[in-house]
Amino acid sequence: MKNILITGGAGFIGSHVVRLFVTKYPQYKIVNLDALTYAGNLENLKDIDHSSNYFFEKANLLDAPAIESVFDKHQITDVIHLAAESHVDRSIVSPLDFVYTNIIGTVNLLNVARTKWKDDYSKHLFYHISTDEVYGALGDTGLFTETTPYHPNSPYSASKASSDHFVRAYAETYHMKTVVSNCSNNYGPFHFPEKLIPLFINNIITKKPLPVYGDGLYTRDWLYVKDHALAIDLIFHKGKADETYNIGGFNEWRNIDLIKLLCKLMDEKLGRAKGESEQLITYVKDRPGHDRRYAIDATKINKELGWKPTVTFEQGLSETIDWFLQNTEWLDHITSGAYEKYYDSMYSNRV
Ligand code: NAD
Ligand code: DAU
Repeated sequence: MKNILITGGAGFIGSHVVRLFVTKYPQYKIVNLDALTYAGNLENLKDIDHSSNYFFEKANLLDAPAIESVFDKHQITDVIHLAAESHVDRSIVSPLDFVYTNIIGTVNLLNVARTKWKDDYSKHLFYHISTDEVYGALGDTGLFTETTPYHPNSPYSASKASSDHFVRAYAETYHMKTVVSNCSNNYGPFHFPEKLIPLFINNIITKKPLPVYGDGLYTRDWLYVKDHALAIDLIFHKGKADETYNIGGFNEWRNIDLIKLLCKLMDEKLGRAKGESEQLITYVKDRPGHDRRYAIDATKINKELGWKPTVTFEQGLSETIDWFLQNTEWLDHITSGAYEKYYDSMYSNRV
């Protein structure tokens, strides 16, 4: 019997992890702790929120007493920690928000777990979900492995690197059982439309400019979000204590190539003329400190745990576009109100 605290479960990846665990493990109690920031949305969990093994707790990671009472109320046995400020562009504008949530919030959570589990740390797992961005940027060749030195370049990645270090330090110092995974770029349903793929899907639907940063030749390694959730499930149950696992799709795309594929698929699905959406492509001022290339070597998780992606990029992208076209209400709820202000402040002097 496990009572698992999943933080950030109302966000993009967290909602897929919550759904997977609630449906696959009816014997577990799944507690979703989320502050419901701009990125948290309970609509992401509408299909499972009546399940008898699912519980939602609105709480902020900065509020240590609130975390403590959630631990007591649900007798939490394990943590899967996803809650974070996650958008690089926002971290460039407001670095301190990332320090508060990603560093101090993680340390608060570690402290509560450390106190509540002190009788026997071996019975409890603290699993931290991290990012490949902690490794910095690659040149034209090479891949990030689990032993690549940390070299974060943005306030976001610096805050994630710091939280990874704290998790390791708590394992070393207090002998807590921990695991960390570092994943590449995710995409899929419920992706918040500030990130490249959902932003561009939304802009193609509404015929707005597609703001390509710099020369568009930056490279990312894309993974379907449901494959990330499956990897998290495997690592949670079978991963070795105090280890790191890299997760990625061996699926590198230069931004401009990905954007052209997205335009082509969307023209077909929307019944638009061939080449119509590509005309929306607009090169804009680059992101400061923009990492040139990320690419994950996912050999370890494949060899040790047998994980590999189940969905090809073409399938995943096509399913993602279909999901956004079928869920316009979800998109409309997000892109009204505060989102418009964010979009204007981020892009009005860029495009
Ligand atoms: P997201 O921004 O969609 O969701 C973050 C969630 O955390 C939201 O529900 C938000 O309400 C919650 N949250 C934020 N601050 C909080 C606080 N102070 N207290 C409690 N809850 C808070 O993020 P995502 O893209 O789903 O990423 C989830 C995790 O995975 C993050 O830790 C991120 O660093 C990591 N990650 C993301 C990607 C990616 O491509 N999106 C890739 C690798 C790793
Ligand atoms: O690598 C994992 C990381 O991937 C996660 O840790 C982050 O939480 C997640 O946000 C993501 O970071 P990126 O910065 O890579 O993702 P983003 O979608 O913001 O940008 C992807 C690429 O597209 C990047 O090279 C910047 C570029 N871009 C992005 C936006 C939003 C544009 O050219 N135009 C845009 O408008």
